Amino acid sequence: MDLSFDGRVAVVTGAGGGLGRAHALELGRRGAKVVVNDMGTSLSGDGVESGRAAIVVKEIEALGGTAVADVNSVATTEGGEALIRTAVSAFGRVDVVVNNAGILRDKTFQNTGPDDVDPVLDVHLKGAFNVTRPAWRIFREQGFGRVVVTSSSAGFFGNFGQASYASAKMGLVGLIKVLAIEGRKYDIRANAVGPVALTRMTEGFENPLADRLDPALVSSVVAYLCHDSCELSGEVLSAGAGRVARVFVGMTRGYVNGSLSAEDVRDHLAEVFDDTGYQVPGNSLAEMELLAEMLGK
Ligand code: NAI
Repeated sequence: MDLSFDGRVAVVTGAGGGLGRAHALELGRRGAKVVVNDMGTSLSGDGVESGRAAIVVKEIEALGGTAVADVNSVATTEGGEALIRTAVSAFGRVDVVVNNAGILRDKTFQNTGPDDVDPVLDVHLKGAFNVTRPAWRIFREQGFGRVVVTSSSAGFFGNFGQASYASAKMGLVGLIKVLAIEGRKYDIRANAVGPVALTRMTEGFENPLADRLDPALVSSVVAYLCHDSCELSGEVLSAGAGRVARVFVGMTRGYVNGSLSAEDVRDHLAEVFDDTGYQVPGNSLAEMELLAEMLGK
């Protein structure tokens, strides 16, 4: 059976173009009422071209869907509150939040100044707090909610010139890990997607796969994560070119020695790095349990 979003209200941030637009179209096509948020910035977050969200609303309507535009900035607490108010006043509820808005201020760490850090953290990392927090109150009351954040391989694996961007993106992984734990008993699920897609953000990079990187292929993963039937929570999925794969933080069994010295660390790196029987702890207590097992307690 197709995954329908009839009766659900979804907020998609940064949905005036690129990936956000594709997510909004996909959710709208599947029956969700969509709040298309986009304040219309340049790639670096400057300037405002606020008509972008309204164009996507028209596109959703042309597909037979229902949507409203919102031009608040996700980078402020007030903007996030106002965005969720837009959803509630237009459609009476909110069920899904897709945190997608983003900017780029790439610099080598050597050249990274405060103006290259705060705005990036404000849009990507704090933006997810600003929008998800007011939605969360509603999710808890109604006993249902789906949160998706947009992370990046730059955060999971590192990328030259992206210190602030990568920090924000990995911060989002920490956020969904905690939201997954705190939301479980309210049927609130929170996951991250690490997209690979051709948009204005990536068109400057040379990429031999460019013609395979349709943002809509990422939207299929986002739509699944937003659906009522999705049981995943606290997971990170890499998505691009039609491939979907789990990204995870694992831990080797490691080396244990009750009188560990610096020399022991040096001499036992092979065991520290041996990933035979590695684990993916479900929360931070699970690490303690593994340690207790290894200590025979
Ligand atoms: P994009 O530049 O086409 O879209 C970003 C949108 O966010 C823009 O329309 C912009 O106006 C909006 N935006 C920026 N600041 C905002 C704010 N304060 N409030 C509301 N809207 C704001 O870029 P793209 O590629 O579609 O990026 C979407 C997300 O995916 C971003 O979070 C990006 O970091 C992430 N991403 C994209 C990848 C790709 O391959 N395209 C790879 C990894 C992550």
